[in-house]
Amino acid sequence: MVVLGATGTIGQRFVSLLQDHPIFEIVALCSSERKVGGHLGEFWRLEDVPLDPDVAGMEIESLDVKRLVRAGIVAAFSALPSDVAVELEVDAARAGIKVFSNASAHRMEADVPLLVPEVNPDHVALVERQRSFAGGGFLVANPNCSITGLVLALRPLADIFEIGSVHVATYQALSGAGYPGVSSLDITANVMPFIEGEEEKMRREAKKILGAWSDGIVPSAIDVWANCARVPVRDGHLEAVSIPLAQDVSSQDVARILSSFRGEPQRRKLPTAPEWPVIVRTEEDRPQPLRDLRAGEPARARGMAATVGRIRVADRVLRFFVLSHNTLRGGAGGSVLNAEMAHRRGYFD
Ligand SMILES: NC(=O)c1ccc[n+]([C@@H]2O[C@H](COP(=O)([O-])OP(=O)(O)OC[C@H]3O[C@@H](n4cnc5c(N)ncnc54)[C@H](OP(=O)(O)O)[C@@H]3O)[C@@H](O)[C@H]2O)c1
Repeated sequence: MVVLGATGTIGQRFVSLLQDHPIFEIVALCSSERKVGGHLGEFWRLEDVPLDPDVAGMEIESLDVKRLVRAGIVAAFSALPSDVAVELEVDAARAGIKVFSNASAHRMEADVPLLVPEVNPDHVALVERQRSFAGGGFLVANPNCSITGLVLALRPLADIFEIGSVHVATYQALSGAGYPGVSSLDITANVMPFIEGEEEKMRREAKKILGAWSDGIVPSAIDVWANCARVPVRDGHLEAVSIPLAQDVSSQDVARILSSFRGEPQRRKLPTAPEWPVIVRTEEDRPQPLRDLRAGEPARARGMAATVGRIRVADRVLRFFVLSHNTLRGGAGGSVLNAEMAHRRGYFD
C-alpha cells in the first residue's frame, strides 16, 4: 500500500489507521516535492495518535507511478488535492493500482463508485466498468466529508419513509479545510457562512450515493438543500437536519430505526466497521464534537460512527442533529472501509 499525500491532514489519518492494519501494510509514503527526502515523523501533527517508530522513519518519496508499480504496490490511498489527483489517480489505476481516493476529482464520473459501504455497497461493482479494471487497477472515491454522516442517517430513514427534500445547516470543523487551512484571524471567535462548492457537492453527491442500483445508478429523488458554515472547532462536522415527511412518525420510531441500522460492513465484520454505524443519544445537549467525535466500537472503529441526537417531530417535520468525524468517517476511515469491503468482495484477488 502507498499513501499519496501522506504528510497532509487526511494522509496522516490514513497512516494512523494503516500502521497496524490487519490486512493492509504501508510500503511507501508520497507527498509534494517540498517534503521528499524527509521522514514522516518530522511532519506528524496528530496529537491524538502515536506514530509507530518504523513508520516515523519512513522516507517521503515523490509521486512516480512507474516506480510504485516497480516496487510491487497494488493499492493506493489517495489524500491528494483534487487538481493533482485528477490525472495521477487515473495514471495509477491504468498502471494496475487499486486507488481509494478522498479527492473530489472523479467522484461524479459514471463508472466511479462514490462509496459509503453501509449505504450503497452494491455501487462498488462500477469498478468493473472502468477501462483499467482488466489490468487490475481501478478507482473508488469516497464522498465529501459533510455528506457522509448525513447519508448514514438518511439511508435507513429513506428505506422506510418517503423523503423528497432534506434541509441541513452545517457547523464544519477547521480540519475539513486541510493544513494550514483557514487563517486564524478569519476564524477565531467567528463563523464563516461560506465554504466554496460545499452546498452544491452535498446535493449532487447525495443523489449519487443514495441512488438505487439497477445495473447502474438511478439517482435518488432526494434533494439535499444545505447551508454550510465553518466554525472554530478542530475536528467533527455537526449538522442540523430538517426533513418534511408525508406521514405521521414518532421520534421514538426514528430513534429505533436509526439505532438498529446495520449494513454490509457490520455483517461482514470488517476491521474498521463500527458495530453500530449510527449511535443515538438521548441527552438534550448531544451530540457535541468535544464529547462524541470518537463514537464507534471496537477500538479500531472509533470515530467511524455518526452520532444523532435531539430527534424531534412536529407537524410532520423531523428534526435532528448529526455529528461525524470529518477526517476519519468523512475522510481516511471512509476510504479504508471502502478498501476493506472491496477486499472482502474479492476485488484484490
Ligand atoms: N480534510 C478533510 O476533512 C477532508 C475530508 C474528505 C476529503 N478531503 C479531501 O482529501 C484531500 C486531501 O485533503 P487534506 O485536507 O488532507 O489536504 P492537505 O492537508 O492540504 O494535504 C494535501 C497532501 O497532498 C500533498 N500534495 C500537495 N500538492 C502536491 C503535489 N503537487 N504533488 C504531490 N503531493 C502533493 C501534500 O504534500 P505537502 O505536505 O508536501 O504539501 C499533502 O501531503 C483533498 O482532495 C480534500 O478535498 C478532505
